[in-house]
Amino acid sequence: MTTHQTLTVALDERSYPIHIGCGLLGNAELWRPHLNPKMGAVVITNTTVAPLYLDKVMATLASLGCPAFSVILPDGEEYKSWGTLNTVFDALLENRCERGTTLIALGGGVIGDLVGFAAACYQRGAPFIQVPTTLLSQVDSSVGGKTAINHPLGKNMIGAFYQPKLVLADLDTLDTLPSREMAAGLSEVIKYGLIRDEAFFQWLEQNAEGLMQRDKTLLAQAVHHSCAHKAEVVARDEREAGERALLNLGHTFGHAVETGMGYGSWLHGEAVAAGTVMAALLSKQLGWLDDAAIERIKLLFQRVGLPVAGPWLASSPEASAGRYLELMRHDKKVSAGVMRLVLLKAIGLAVVSAEADDAAILGAIVSGLASRPDPAALPPTGI
Ligand code: NAD
Ligand code: GLY
Repeated sequence: MTTHQTLTVALDERSYPIHIGCGLLGNAELWRPHLNPKMGAVVITNTTVAPLYLDKVMATLASLGCPAFSVILPDGEEYKSWGTLNTVFDALLENRCERGTTLIALGGGVIGDLVGFAAACYQRGAPFIQVPTTLLSQVDSSVGGKTAINHPLGKNMIGAFYQPKLVLADLDTLDTLPSREMAAGLSEVIKYGLIRDEAFFQWLEQNAEGLMQRDKTLLAQAVHHSCAHKAEVVARDEREAGERALLNLGHTFGHAVETGMGYGSWLHGEAVAAGTVMAALLSKQLGWLDDAAIERIKLLFQRVGLPVAGPWLASSPEASAGRYLELMRHDKKVSAGVMRLVLLKAIGLAVVSAEADDAAILGAIVSGLASRPDPAALPPTGI
């Protein structure tokens, strides 16, 4: 299948295309307008993705006469760090890369976020291309220009808004993705239905199993629909002055899970799923969602194999909820000390709200915790 669909992220002179389809890694004509063979390119990837797709990308660059080298980083959320960023800068400087060298992020959201931040910083801004190879990165992280690394005290705390020149989402790369990662990506797909598109949520209810089985026609629809939502929101609110915050449904709770459990223990999409259930439970406490809506949300997550309850972060549910709240206070949506959370008025209608007080938030967390601690998944500090 060589046909593909194209969307545009409309940001005036920084607008860029998102190509979605099969066989795109080797489709030189899609790459050509965004490369400068005189300046060359560097493909930055990791030890898992390199053996699968690096040769193909290097061959495409060679066919375009674009000199390129590669940097292969260790794999894992724990490497979305200062140390790894420095490894990238070392390689760029050792290879005498100039400001016009194109950085190509080949991998999932970890690679995309880190390479995007490296591009934003290198010589005050080098061009970069996102080649997302996980479902999560194809539907979310490669689009919109949020780039970052983690800090031990908080997820994505050090970063920049910096847009790519091109996003190439090759659906064929999803053939090699582990099922757990497919489910994590679907968590962000379900998010779009929950925050702004009830009909899409229903479509996902109808097609959840087909998506997990990687039906390419369904995947093309899901990635296209998700990217269309994201592109529309980003075009209206690039720097998250308002509406873009809605894309963080479940993330404030979810980031507490990721940070509290140690980066890489829970996948981002898993943490977002459990966090979304907590946000839904809080929405119920505020009288906005009913039990039937909560059950619909949980069932869809469960059908694709996602968790619907968060891990304990301390020795009791109450102490765990306190630790969640402490971690959530580091969130970027906390403004002047006030915690603003993305909550649901209904399936398909999210709002940013500061209405919930600490007691309500703690209550929702306790209701959204697993019934017992998982001994295999204790946070690194122990409980
Ligand atoms: P990831 O980048 O860790 O990739 C998941 C795993 O799949 C890794 O082991 C990776 O090496 C492997 N992998 C990648 N492509 C593969 C393929 N085609 N076949 C086999 N294995 C493959 O995780 P992710 O879920 O893609 O991204 C999560 C990250 O994205 C988090 O750091 C999160 O904070 C970030 N994120 C950023 C944004 C944003 O707007 N910038 C949005 C959502 C998430
Ligand atoms: N993933 C949330 C955003 O890009 O704003």
